[in-house]
Amino acid sequence: MTHPLEQIRDEALREIESAPDEQSLEAARVKYLGRSGSISSWGEQMKTLPKEEKPVVGKLLNEVRTAVTAAIETRGQQFQSQKESGALAKIDISLPGTPHELGTLHPLTQMWERSIEIFRRMGFSLADGPDIEDEWHCFDALNTPAEHPARNEQDTFYLPDGRLLRTHTSTVQIRTMQAAPPPIRVIAPGAAYRRDELDATHSPQFHQIEWLYVDENVSVADLKGALEFFMHELFGPGTAVQFRPHYFPFTEPSLEVYVKSKVLKGGERWIEVAGSGVVHPAVFEAVNKARGDNAYDPEKWSGYAFGLGMDRLAMILFDIPDIRFFVQNDLRFLRQFA
Ligand code: DAH
Repeated sequence: MTHPLEQIRDEALREIESAPDEQSLEAARVKYLGRSGSISSWGEQMKTLPKEEKPVVGKLLNEVRTAVTAAIETRGQQFQSQKESGALAKIDISLPGTPHELGTLHPLTQMWERSIEIFRRMGFSLADGPDIEDEWHCFDALNTPAEHPARNEQDTFYLPDGRLLRTHTSTVQIRTMQAAPPPIRVIAPGAAYRRDELDATHSPQFHQIEWLYVDENVSVADLKGALEFFMHELFGPGTAVQFRPHYFPFTEPSLEVYVKSKVLKGGERWIEVAGSGVVHPAVFEAVNKARGDNAYDPEKWSGYAFGLGMDRLAMILFDIPDIRFFVQNDLRFLRQFA
């Protein structure tokens, strides 16, 4: 004799398999599996059954519920794939496609990538910091006194809350040392901002690569060797590198770096490309104070640092006559550097 549950199952399966659309399928689901559906109400009736029948009927109830659930799912998938093939049938695959325009890398990005690749081979890793900075990271920690002209409102973009747009990427030196003890070997490519009038050779936003090396017994000789290696890799072995004494608050001694190379336009002219120097002990002291330890003990650690201007280098290397081209997003300009 068939159990009433089996009858319900057979009836349900028939109804589900022949359901003409999704609404009828949903109606069938509610009728059998819904809260007061006929299968669900058998769960309630179980309680009234004699003890010895319970396991047998319980097992049957589970089987029936599983079978009906599976049938609903199968029928649902059939509707789904009918819909999809219906949509596909409307697409004419013989029509020509829509071509995608391929972009090119911005010349500054290309400069960055070439430079970063050289630094990587020298064992440097990438570091990062925010463009919106506080005065401490931009000036105080870098040994720049309150009366220094760089802090002037005529030179620096200040936000109403006292923060500022970083005037150089040297801020990342401080953030890197705050975050980790020496030794340090990082480069930080990024944008910097100064209140310059926009013209063919000046822009209020420009781009630098900052370089910081901290270890024991680091000297000017290491700085010069590393810089010469870098410039030769970038501009070729025929490149001459010259160091001229200069002043930066955060390095002592400080050097300006000039290069001369046949691959650079203007051929035999010395071109200023970077500021550099041996990290000033006062910078280490400021970092120690912020860290609350003596990790950068100036008696033990020394370092060199370097800030390389990207825009002018890219202009020279790619023969770009006007710095404004970098930010105008003119495709006719950008396509030339594919
Ligand atoms: N921050 C300087 C500038 O923007 C460049 C610079 C000079 C960076 C000396 C350095 C450095 O790391 O040691 O003009």
